[in-house]
Amino acid sequence: MLLATVERRAVLSEAVASARAQGARVALVPTMGFLHEGHLSLVDRARAAADYTVVSIFVNPLQFGPHEDLATYPRDLDRDLDLLRRRGADLVFVPDVAEMYPAREPGVYVHAPALADRLCGASRPGHFQGVLTVVAKLLHVAAPDVAVFGRKDLQQLVLVRRMVRDLDFGVRIIAGAIVRDADGLALSSRNVYLTAAQREQALLLSRGLVAARDAFAAGERDAARLVGTARGMLERGTDVRVDYVELIDTTTLDAVARASPQDALAVAAWVGRTRLIDNITIGGHDVEQVENGEEDERS
Ligand code: PAJ
Repeated sequence: MLLATVERRAVLSEAVASARAQGARVALVPTMGFLHEGHLSLVDRARAAADYTVVSIFVNPLQFGPHEDLATYPRDLDRDLDLLRRRGADLVFVPDVAEMYPAREPGVYVHAPALADRLCGASRPGHFQGVLTVVAKLLHVAAPDVAVFGRKDLQQLVLVRRMVRDLDFGVRIIAGAIVRDADGLALSSRNVYLTAAQREQALLLSRGLVAARDAFAAGERDAARLVGTARGMLERGTDVRVDYVELIDTTTLDAVARASPQDALAVAAWVGRTRLIDNITIGGHDVEQVENGEEDERS
């Protein structure tokens, strides 16, 4: 059976309304496509929490900076649809840019300066404003009961939760655990940009995080030393340029001086010309266990 795809916002709203009229709970999984197991694990989470799962695929120009990879962002819609059909999604929303932004540039954006201008936002000005604006639109059009976001993009997840809370969106946000390759590299659509040699160096991100988590398990609580452990690992990479390594509170995104188990160690680094991010719960499980999808589910 072919998976239903919808390009128009109005048609999506109607499809969701008729599913809901039949008593279905509706879940939304927003993506930019070129799907991998990380995205598909979110579809699994959605299906476990709802009866009708909508996946959106939209490469959102608003969240790309002028010198970023909007033009080259990988795309393969046929493959994505095949993966989603096999994973049991019910509907895929694939709008084009004119459908999402008929007025070209929105006159109103969702802006979150205190949380959006640090960490990834510091080197990607305007990025989270673009993310929150498109997520707000998707949540309004699809009007789901739940929406699922990956913990891989931790700052994005925290910002979406804040938007939903501060602006009274009536939707429950579910967090999905980071899915990794067997060697620890967090899956990302952008990993295709890496050469074999760069991919080897990209492993330093997760290795640095695991080394810091091991130090925490051995009793280290000083944030500067935990950060230093991860940073030291990253600096072994000749082709790695660190953007930030920070130990943060996962509600406020504030840097902490002393580590508590639920804090996250977050890293961003360029490997060659590819910017990668990763994070780990400092008192958390093994990377291998996290891979199995055991993750918190706060709303
Ligand atoms: P995209 O990068 O396609 O990611 C879509 C969702 O998949 C996000 O919630 C992201 O956190 C999650 N994800 C990506 N890699 C993952 C991994 N290895 N493990 C678990 N989850 C993973 O994030 C975006 O798109 C966009 O910013 C979007 C929210 C769609 C707004 O345009």
